[in-house]
Amino acid sequence: MNTVHENRLLLGGHDAQALVKAHGTPLYVYEAEVIRGQCRLLRDSFADVAPEFHFAVKSNFNPAILGILREEGLNIDAVSPFEVRLCLAVGFAPEQILYTGNNASEADLRYCLEQGVAVNLGSLGELERYGEMNPGGSVSLRINPDVGAGHHHHVITGGPHSKFGIYHTEHEAILARLARHNLRLVGIHSHIGTGILETADMLRAMEIILRTAAPFDDLEFINFGGGLGIPYRPGEQPLPIAELGREMARRFREFCGVYGRPLRMKLEPGRIVVGPAGTLLVQVTNIQSTPAHTFVGTDSGFNHLVRPALYGAYHEVLNATRVEGVQQSVVVAGNLCESGDVFTQNKVGLEDRLLTTPRVGDLLAFRDTGAYGMSQSSQYNLRPRPAEIMLEGGDVRLIRRRESFEDLIRNFPDLD
Ligand code: LLP
Repeated sequence: MNTVHENRLLLGGHDAQALVKAHGTPLYVYEAEVIRGQCRLLRDSFADVAPEFHFAVKSNFNPAILGILREEGLNIDAVSPFEVRLCLAVGFAPEQILYTGNNASEADLRYCLEQGVAVNLGSLGELERYGEMNPGGSVSLRINPDVGAGHHHHVITGGPHSKFGIYHTEHEAILARLARHNLRLVGIHSHIGTGILETADMLRAMEIILRTAAPFDDLEFINFGGGLGIPYRPGEQPLPIAELGREMARRFREFCGVYGRPLRMKLEPGRIVVGPAGTLLVQVTNIQSTPAHTFVGTDSGFNHLVRPALYGAYHEVLNATRVEGVQQSVVVAGNLCESGDVFTQNKVGLEDRLLTTPRVGDLLAFRDTGAYGMSQSSQYNLRPRPAEIMLEGGDVRLIRRRESFEDLIRNFPDLD
């Protein structure tokens, strides 16, 4: 939890200034307590059905975070061979991992097969290829339920404009391929999008998925994907997750009754698990005005947090050096050589924010950056990725070193 002491921001009880003094900026800070709290929230909300939660590694693949989630009893939703490999290295068993790639290559599928990792296939082509590789095996299929949802059109993964999943109407084509390769269909999956804050779309998709699943006889589980949103803007209503959990449990149990035997429910949360646990700390390097805006420049950019530039996504920003005081309306920008490198923007353009009057050297804190922050970072402009630290029970632990020049150039044979 974030508190304030002598007008300075504390993260998990630690003065943000002190963390930065020890570890530099930009710095990703995670609070283990918050991650564990979010796991509890999920477990409690869905207690009526006790689903298997598969953490969407794409949201944050830091091994320290994966370690905490393993302790919390979560499984893994992986989307690339290296995600699988990392999770195995962290100590997850192959049976805890479900691979949901997209346009998976034969090599991707073969790797999963060799590792004993179950696959969830999202196209008839992949089903055909997997059947040839592993006749008599078991598969799960990702279905496009013709329902999509999400905070931006880039992240809607259902409906006719989405590349993901086998259309829910393809029942006959699925049956033909299963029969041809003697495959057992053990799971039905769908994931309609991300950042969902209302229950209606989730429940509508669930209904179609259950209808799609009903005629298949060998099912062991149904996986309703991830997508559970978190409020980013002050005042934004959170997803009524307890209500959603109860309702999904009720509908699922009802379905199992008609299906004739109990199935396992799976969910693949990413954002809701780690999003609220992360804060990105950056330093103010420059302040400059135009007739339209006051730009507060920082030592980070969309290379470290791309969500605002990519989706017009909102992250609350605080002046961690002086939390309260006279406020100024500003635009917070990065240090990259692109005009889209602005942290405070929406889908239309730049968005001014009220910040306690910033000065060069102040620390700014971007809230709720634990999901799709560091995992979408890059080395654009040949700038290193930030360090990451974990706060837990009074301890501060470095969980990823800041990249060095050597890290950035190690793959150029010309420099060997
Ligand atoms: N399962 C599948 C198959 C997914 O594709 C995803 C996310 C998840 C689960 C987890 O969804 P979550 O619970 O985190 O919403 N970069 C975007 C988000 C992209 C999500 C991609 N798939 C962002 O920053 O908003």
